[in-house]
Amino acid sequence: MENTDMKVIQWFPGHMAKTRRAISSNLSLVDAVVEIIDARTPMSSRNPEIDQLTSKKPRIVLLNKCDLADANTTSRWINYFNSENVTALAVDCKSGKGLNKLMPTLRSTVLKELMDKRQRSGMTGAPIRLMILGIPNVGKSSLINRLAGSKRTKVEDRPGVTRTKQWVKLQDNNELLDMPGVLWPKFEDQSAAIRLAFTGAISDDILDIETLAMKLLSFLAENYPQSLADRYKVTAEEGDDGLALLEKVGRKRGMVISGGEINTERAAITVLDEFRSGKLGRISLEVPPVRE
Ligand code: G4P
Repeated sequence: MENTDMKVIQWFPGHMAKTRRAISSNLSLVDAVVEIIDARTPMSSRNPEIDQLTSKKPRIVLLNKCDLADANTTSRWINYFNSENVTALAVDCKSGKGLNKLMPTLRSTVLKELMDKRQRSGMTGAPIRLMILGIPNVGKSSLINRLAGSKRTKVEDRPGVTRTKQWVKLQDNNELLDMPGVLWPKFEDQSAAIRLAFTGAISDDILDIETLAMKLLSFLAENYPQSLADRYKVTAEEGDDGLALLEKVGRKRGMVISGGEINTERAAITVLDEFRSGKLGRISLEVPPVRE
């Protein structure tokens, strides 16, 4: 994983140290952290240090892009997080689906103690202040735009962005710290990095695009064979490896170059694009760990 290591170097050590500092110095300003992850790959899209970074701050986990994930698997993930005493919600920040539950859930569970305290002291109107944290491309800007109800600028993929501190007013008088923490992903875990590359969260160049597509096709043949059949009319035969599957897709799509050879690069781009845009159906790349 030479290339993956190169990616780590872009983040480490200055950026990571800066992100840690930015988060810890701003944490005391907020009531809760909103950790946004990808519903298709909830473990791999979590920052490896999120627990230490947010220490004991009340936290809610949003499984974003649930429109692209397998609904059953997402339910299992929600149960898994709940069993770990973490409140989690499935959302789709593109359409806004599920986000109506965010503030009520924060009030009734994650921030219940604070809400009760405010009630006792007659402070019920005080805003709830939030900080959003997540790895690049997971949907932070989309979430902010949805919550703030207006088109804001794109969150920069600069780690731990700290411009002048600003609060974004949300529609319901609550406030968001305008420093969406851009966290670094799990690069050190090769299979996590590959899942992130499947979703496009980290750039394709951790592996060459054909290898990436072959790995994705092998995963699909094993876990979602119907998607391959529906989209490409491809059935995996015993012994088909990723390359064989990629060639089958290319052949079905007429991606043939001179001499009848399959243009596997074009086929790979198609497979990855179509997976990312949901054309292969709702697919989850990870299931919750099984407990002993
Ligand atoms: P970031 O700030 O964390 O980096 O992520 P951002 O909101 O920019 O989202 C990254 C991409 O993911 C965007 O697509 C965005 O539209 C898409 N996205 C965010 N949330 C969801 C969701 O719940 N479902 C789906 N299907 N997509 C989501 P893009 O192709 O980069 O841009 P565009 O399609 O918005 O033009």
